[in-house]
Amino acid sequence: MNFKDYIRVIPDFPQPGIRFKDITTLLQNGPVYKEAIEQLKQLIQDKEIDVIAGPEARGFVIGAPLATALGVGFIPIRKSGKLPGETIEADYALEYGKDKLAMHKDAIKPGQKVLIADDLLATGGTIQTSVDLIKQLGGEIVGAAFLIELTYLDGRSKFEGFDVVSLVQY
Ligand code: PRP
Repeated sequence: MNFKDYIRVIPDFPQPGIRFKDITTLLQNGPVYKEAIEQLKQLIQDKEIDVIAGPEARGFVIGAPLATALGVGFIPIRKSGKLPGETIEADYALEYGKDKLAMHKDAIKPGQKVLIADDLLATGGTIQTSVDLIKQLGGEIVGAAFLIELTYLDGRSKFEGFDVVSLVQY
């Protein structure tokens, strides 16, 4: 299946020069969405995974179904001010803009093997910050899985010590 046929590219969103990869057109197609999750699952099948963590918001639509497909828990990594319990937070820079990410302090037990999942790897800033938060909580990162990777931004070069896999590359 060519997943690119189902990903809509929108020029100059959210600002001039950005070619936004819109996955809503893939998500709205049940069989294609299901196949994407199935193929992502196959890309990580060699790994021992206790939980999947995914950053708000589009990381949820990839990470949560992947977690249920594997039968493991899902940990939301949220933007600041959204989680009700005690949190740790970290600043991060995006391809366009910046924000703060947060996790519940008790989201991960020390030593748990964590796979990070998101819809898109661009600069890698979101995942770098997610890695920092997960490590602060004592989690061990065993990999990162993405629906889309923007290879020209080389986000994966930020990461050492775990595999980075993606289904679709631009
Ligand atoms: C997008 C995307 C990734 C991140 C990738 O999320 O879903 O999480 O940017 O960029 P990076 O590799 O350069 O960090 P965004 O922050 O736009 O949030 P959203 O999912 O809530 O739209």
